[in-house]
Amino acid sequence: MSSLLTITPAKSLQGEISLPGDKSISHRAIILASIAKGISVVRGWQKGKDCMATLNILRMMGVKTEEKGDDLIIHGEGKAGLEEPADILDCENSGTTMRLLAGLLSAQGFYSVLSGDSSLRRRPMRRVISPLERMGAKISGRENGQFPPLSIMGSSLKGIDYSLPIPSAQVKSSLLLAALYAKGTTLITEPYRSRDHTELMLKFLGVNLEIDNLTLKVEGGASLIGKEISVPGDISAAAFFIGGGAIIKGSQVKILNIGLNPTRRGFIDVLLQMGADIRVLNLREKCGEELGDIEIRGGATLEGTLIRGEMIPRIIDEIPILAVVACFAKGKTVIKDAVELRVKETDRIKAIAAELHKMGAQTEEKRDGIIIEGTGKLKGCQCQSYKDHRIAMALIIAGLAAEGKTEIVAPECIETSFPGFEHTLRKVVRN
Ligand code: S3P
Repeated sequence: MSSLLTITPAKSLQGEISLPGDKSISHRAIILASIAKGISVVRGWQKGKDCMATLNILRMMGVKTEEKGDDLIIHGEGKAGLEEPADILDCENSGTTMRLLAGLLSAQGFYSVLSGDSSLRRRPMRRVISPLERMGAKISGRENGQFPPLSIMGSSLKGIDYSLPIPSAQVKSSLLLAALYAKGTTLITEPYRSRDHTELMLKFLGVNLEIDNLTLKVEGGASLIGKEISVPGDISAAAFFIGGGAIIKGSQVKILNIGLNPTRRGFIDVLLQMGADIRVLNLREKCGEELGDIEIRGGATLEGTLIRGEMIPRIIDEIPILAVVACFAKGKTVIKDAVELRVKETDRIKAIAAELHKMGAQTEEKRDGIIIEGTGKLKGCQCQSYKDHRIAMALIIAGLAAEGKTEIVAPECIETSFPGFEHTLRKVVRN
């Protein structure tokens, strides 16, 4: 029996909140500190299930770590410090864990196997295996390397010049990790800029990485130095409160210390373009990452919009909550060029179109996106989470803005990226 979460309409969202650390940055901090020389202290890291999967895997390869309050202390033994794991490495639901580690493990002097839950075992891995094989990696997976489990026999790698067919920070980061161990130079070019946390953190830890527009250049043999790394609050988690605040009249929410890396803040830019009342305050920089506080007020009239092309990687994880916001905007919102959403934790185009349709929204599913005609209202009903954290949270916000009662089936998946979501929600919801 799946559990059910019942949501009743909110009059408004009110208050000041801090959110868990950024998931993407936390994964990178755990991995890079593990192969750095010396001690790193990762402040404000995210303890959701995805990042815990990454941490447990590094521990299985001999990395010594201690958790002290909000800090994670990692005793890095350098790039050659990992040991052969005695068992299969379980990435659980986390695509970032599997794809980034595939690059790192390809270059180790040992054998390893990466697997995950039934969702992750259906996600495409060719995108990392093909370029890694060109570097000399020895990886096999189900259906000719398409799907996990991935079995990796570590080997000597060589630098390559590779153009990514799709903008993907996971693929780019996987290749960057392999490139640190490769002989010679690696050049990686993206069609559009995807999140650049790996590049920023590598630079912060002392790696000489050259960035020329959409091309990255890294020399094999570089080493990393352990440091104190601050992780800002997760903009992808903040998006649910920003979106909720924008569509629930009378709301006023302030969110503190949120990462505002330009490659991640597409959701704020798109909502501003739609007419939302959002202010970014106290913009600052830490460890190479921009962060600030965000203030959102409800009640502004929102207009439908078109998003496509290079905006898509900047907003990719926020499209489910954008679809909810679009139901409350005047006119059409058109989301194009987002076929990648079909291979996330679930098919997010299908999932959000179907569930919002059940709530009375006018949604049209397209091959590479979705069209939503805003009607200004939704009605509560029973919705499926598809065991996808971002679908579950988007539908919870939809339920708060809807008329009547909404039930979300299997909301536990939220723990993968947002530990304490319900607690934070209870802090701001006024019924
Ligand atoms: C991530 C990159 C994105 C994103 C995912 C996290 C990362 O995936 O959707 O949630 O941390 O690198 P892709 O690289 O597949 O676009």
